[in-house]
Amino acid sequence: MKSSPWWKEATIYQIYPRSFFDSNGDGEGDLKGITSKLEYVQELGVDAIWLSPFYTSPNKDGGYDVADPRDVDPRFGDLADAKKLIDVAHSLGMKVLVDVVPNHFSDQHVWFQQALKAGRGSAERARFHFYDANDDGTPPNNWISLFGGPSWTQVEDGQYYLHLFDSSQPDLNWENPEVASDYEVTLRFWLELGVDGFRIDVAHGLVKENLLTNHPDPQGISDALRLDVSMDPEIRYALLPTVPYFDRQGVHEIYRKWRKLFDSYQDREIMAVAEAWVHPPVNATRYVRPDELHQVFNFDLLDAPFKADFLYEVVTRSIELMDSVGALPTWALSNHDSPRVASRIGEVQARALALFVLALPGSCYVFAGQELGLPDGEIPDSSRQDPIYFRTKGAQKGRDGARVPLPWSGEAAPFGFTSGKPWLPLTDKWKELTVEKQSVDPKSTLNLYRTALKLRADHLISQGSITWLESPHHGMKSESLLAVRRGNVSIYMNLSESPVEVELSGKLLIMSAGTVDARDGKMTIPAISTIWVHH
Ligand code: GLC
Ligand code: CA
Repeated sequence: MKSSPWWKEATIYQIYPRSFFDSNGDGEGDLKGITSKLEYVQELGVDAIWLSPFYTSPNKDGGYDVADPRDVDPRFGDLADAKKLIDVAHSLGMKVLVDVVPNHFSDQHVWFQQALKAGRGSAERARFHFYDANDDGTPPNNWISLFGGPSWTQVEDGQYYLHLFDSSQPDLNWENPEVASDYEVTLRFWLELGVDGFRIDVAHGLVKENLLTNHPDPQGISDALRLDVSMDPEIRYALLPTVPYFDRQGVHEIYRKWRKLFDSYQDREIMAVAEAWVHPPVNATRYVRPDELHQVFNFDLLDAPFKADFLYEVVTRSIELMDSVGALPTWALSNHDSPRVASRIGEVQARALALFVLALPGSCYVFAGQELGLPDGEIPDSSRQDPIYFRTKGAQKGRDGARVPLPWSGEAAPFGFTSGKPWLPLTDKWKELTVEKQSVDPKSTLNLYRTALKLRADHLISQGSITWLESPHHGMKSESLLAVRRGNVSIYMNLSESPVEVELSGKLLIMSAGTVDARDGKMTIPAISTIWVHH
């Protein structure tokens, strides 16, 4: 069964186009490559795909530096290829979401080039955040870029422009009505081409406050925003709400207007999901109020330890918070910005957690390769591409590890991804992880996902919320056991390294590892494993 509307409890498969499949041997994935593999995606059992950016871009930040948001970069193909991809996906029963990047353009966008020429005080500069230097020549304020280094770059005539990310990604000035109306043109452009919705990049960043004021602790907020910096949670949570460029009230006005635009396509179920890293977590609910967006990413599982108490808190809080605005949560274990889940918590653990999460109410986002249990790629520093690596002068390795191309077939790297040289190296160690090998192995992670998604559709979609059976506050059979009941299915996740016996009978639908011993109304849940039991 599919949920209604389709996105309510959808499984959405994120494709990073450069890493999916290369159709022409230049070493980079492309739109034709994606189209040729859509049957594979459909067989997985997902409802929709989300495509990371494929727009015209100098590719300084993996395409999130957009030079023309209404065209396709030649490395990926052209608009006809995009149209074809959308049509084929639809014919296979899948919806298509595209990424939009409204916080910034590339410095190669015609607007920014015009702004450079037009000079200070011009209408062209007013589309971005250009300001004069301080009297001593320093930037207008002390903010630090999320990719490291200052948030301001000086142009020839001495003015500075703001960029929260790389210097090649000037932030747009959303107070300027021209910016808003140009973006509406972009949204309509893709809707006319047939897409079913959008993933909104840095959705919480469009409106800035105190642009000309120093922050008392710029390094502190920059660190607090990063997942890879260990920081006392109290310090982190005290700093996050003070970030003057994220989660300002003004962003919601923008999404109310966008919602009207989406709803004006009356015969279509258009949806949008916000990438909004906000704190405290309750703030995320504002993005999905009934007159705003449809979904907001929940990033809590991207860095959650594989610990029962922690996961219990995340799951209950996510469901309760979203329920307060009549929305359902979203779940993601990996994406193109964070270490892959199999590397972060372990392969077996990642299978158990995935099977648990796929049973929960709401939408699940699956990052291409996650269904193969891929770990992060091993990348020599000389092959790195992420601007984070360069802007921090190597102090942070960046996100390339999660972006290594997919292994499709054969016995040696690049495993059928390309007939040329892949843009990031694949390792021969992935020999057993190819789609080809995993397709014929009933115990593979790929078949675990395929079966789980089918069972999810058959037994769990639209079955309402969960009831806890085992958690740090329920049951207490073991402190490493989490269990919920949803509809007619009980879901048990044993996080410990030893099997746990519970009173349970019914039909075993699926397990992520081990073998289940069932007799006399009891079942043993194998070590580090999740099982679904139908009653
Ligand atoms: C988002 C994207 C990330 C990108 C950044 C700047 O966080 O997911 O990949 O670097 O925005 O656009
Ligand atoms: Ca290619």
